[in-house]
Amino acid sequence: MHCVKKIKDDLFWVGANDRRLSMFEGIYSVPRGVSYNSYLILDQKTVLFDTVDKAVHDRFMENVSVVLGDRELDYLVIQHMEPDHSSSIKEILSRYPDVKVVCNTKSLGMIKGFYGCDLGDGAIAVKEGDIIDIGRRKLKFIFAPMVHWPEVMVTFDLTDNVLFSADAFGSFGALNGALFADEVDFDRDYLDEARRYYTNIVGKYGKQVMMLLDKASKLDIKMICPLHGFVWRDRVDEIVSKHVKWATYEPEEQGVMIAYASIYGNTENAAEILASKLRDRGIMTEMFDVSVTHGSEILASAFKWSHLVFACATYNGGIFTAMDMLISDLVAHNLQNRTVCIIENGSWAPTSGKQIAQKLEQCKDMNILEDIITIESGVKEAQLEKLEIMADAIAATLI
Ligand code: FEO
Repeated sequence: MHCVKKIKDDLFWVGANDRRLSMFEGIYSVPRGVSYNSYLILDQKTVLFDTVDKAVHDRFMENVSVVLGDRELDYLVIQHMEPDHSSSIKEILSRYPDVKVVCNTKSLGMIKGFYGCDLGDGAIAVKEGDIIDIGRRKLKFIFAPMVHWPEVMVTFDLTDNVLFSADAFGSFGALNGALFADEVDFDRDYLDEARRYYTNIVGKYGKQVMMLLDKASKLDIKMICPLHGFVWRDRVDEIVSKHVKWATYEPEEQGVMIAYASIYGNTENAAEILASKLRDRGIMTEMFDVSVTHGSEILASAFKWSHLVFACATYNGGIFTAMDMLISDLVAHNLQNRTVCIIENGSWAPTSGKQIAQKLEQCKDMNILEDIITIESGVKEAQLEKLEIMADAIAATLI
């Protein structure tokens, strides 16, 4: 049975939720599910914005059919070709043979690549700033390359000031019956998932995101309709400013994220002692054992906090595997502008700390505070003193 949501009299959500997916994009855990949003406008022309993942294809097709009623589909706007939004294109073309696909030339190539479709006269290739008139509304297309793929564009409804934002302003998490961010306690229940979505999916492309946000700042946006997560109809400025922080790699909060890799608990012990000393100084801390917490959560936290501590056992003469993956991930996602402390452990040849520092040299503006603390197997009095000094150094650099 269909399950649609009315956004305005002539604008509907026709997407669906997936709570069975274990790994989004094969990498990111989604314990609270994910929504694949699609939007349908019923103006003089009917316009569908993107499709959905194949996992929810049947529900989506039924939703589109019910909202259209006895009308035909005039336009399918393709803003993003990643298969979580494009998997139903072929079926839409088949069921609505007169539909015109509105997209850019990069998407046309990808449609052929993914689905073997050569659209010919069935497509309208738009350029940056092109406008189509669909009756009461006029839709303007704004290119947003690398947010999150090169073909991405967003669409601004010049009549009702709705931004159809593709992956931008999205979030992990199924919608659970609500559609608007103001229907839930977003900051309490969903902000962490929005940050985890942004930082992992497009965190690397801060510069490109800022180009889009700059274009968006010139628009009077009243509503944002992303392809994942909630629709924003108030607090638009707040969610935009969060994205500005993330895209410019500014810390969101002053405080310390401690990520540790510990084989027998001794490195963990050092991390716990440091955390305790930081809390004694009134400093906020968040801690992760990299062996048990999914890297996407730790990466999101690294984007949140101003100070990062990595405490790591030496393993095979290098960085413990899970920590190595985390550091590589932080580098790959372009994290920058953080204050860092490092603790290393090793029973005969501790080297993990120096290797972490070397890898972090690839990141811009990473300020490594204090000397690396080296533990030889277990924490001793000498390291307690050094942890005290490290806590003082962190406290002195917090704003
Ligand atoms: Fe949700 Fe980049 O696709």
